[in-house]
Amino acid sequence: MSETTQSQETSGTDSSTGQPLQTVAGETEEETRPEWIDYRFDGAAKLVSEDLDVFYGDDHAIKGVSMEIPEKSVTALIGPSGCGKSTFLRCLNRMNDRIKSARIDGSVTLDGEEIYQDGVNLVELRKRVGMVFQSPNPFPKSIRDNISYGPRKHGDIETGLLARLLGRSNEEEEEELVERSLRQAALWDEVKDRLDDNALGLSGGQQQRLCIARALATDPQVLLMDEPASALDPIATSKIEDLIHDLAEEYTVVIVTHNMQQAARISDQTAVFLTGGELVEYGDTDKIFENPESQRVEDYITGKFG
Ligand SMILES: Nc1ncnc2c1ncn2[C@@H]1O[C@H](COP(=O)(O)OP(=O)(O)O)[C@@H](O)[C@H]1O
Ligand SMILES: [Mg+2]
Repeated sequence: MSETTQSQETSGTDSSTGQPLQTVAGETEEETRPEWIDYRFDGAAKLVSEDLDVFYGDDHAIKGVSMEIPEKSVTALIGPSGCGKSTFLRCLNRMNDRIKSARIDGSVTLDGEEIYQDGVNLVELRKRVGMVFQSPNPFPKSIRDNISYGPRKHGDIETGLLARLLGRSNEEEEEELVERSLRQAALWDEVKDRLDDNALGLSGGQQQRLCIARALATDPQVLLMDEPASALDPIATSKIEDLIHDLAEEYTVVIVTHNMQQAARISDQTAVFLTGGELVEYGDTDKIFENPESQRVEDYITGKFG
């Protein structure tokens, strides 16, 4: 997206009518007010971004986003396609580091600690801040191995002959981990009798819950979800939504969704990004949907554009 569709420097009004100037469809040259994103909440902030900018080459995808995300709750990121939701989400566990053209300026802290500083262990960071993607992407392995693969790779679990010979076998721990993670993801009852079956034989909704279980197996504190239900049918979607709601008792969940009803149903607070990578308004979900401050946010929510 180019920067030319909105300019924050001018809060243009038509001198004859006093009405805001119309620019592109449904948008006005409204100036974003700092208090619109100054969300006050009880409890601790888990993640805090400050003046975060992301560039892909010359393309400025995220513009100076400052946002505090409360712990143990569901934060929804909404906004039209291309406004930078996925980009912002990926900043929260440094997933954008994998994109060659991406450059990130500014700060993100997790429990008060800067994640964009030298020496941060990215494997550890991504264990603490897990991610679930739009299309379920289980490994082409057994259901059990999908859960235990990560912890094994990181040396948290050892099984097999050598481990047995060395007296370091964690087979029981592995079983416990598999069961706990699958139960947490509300999948255990459906798969407990076929843990050795290939995960690719599960339905789409089951595969997505397996991916959530896999993320939970590394004992994260935060779960980032990028449109986790957009490829699923309504019943599978509703199971994922119930699950997200339950997970927020223990975890901090940040979810991107283009489905506004979904954001309204499952989130505690909602952040609205608009074209140009700007965070325009952030607050209690009820307030954002019922009585937003920004005209552009109201236009977006009422379906006038996007
Ligand atoms: N890997 C990438 N390389 C270059 N540009 C990208 C990349 N990912 C996203 N963009 C651009 O950044 C902007 C924001 O994209 P994205 O974060 O995917 O938005 P959203 O998730 O809200 O649809 C878009 O203009 C998009 O084209
Ligand atoms: Mg996206």
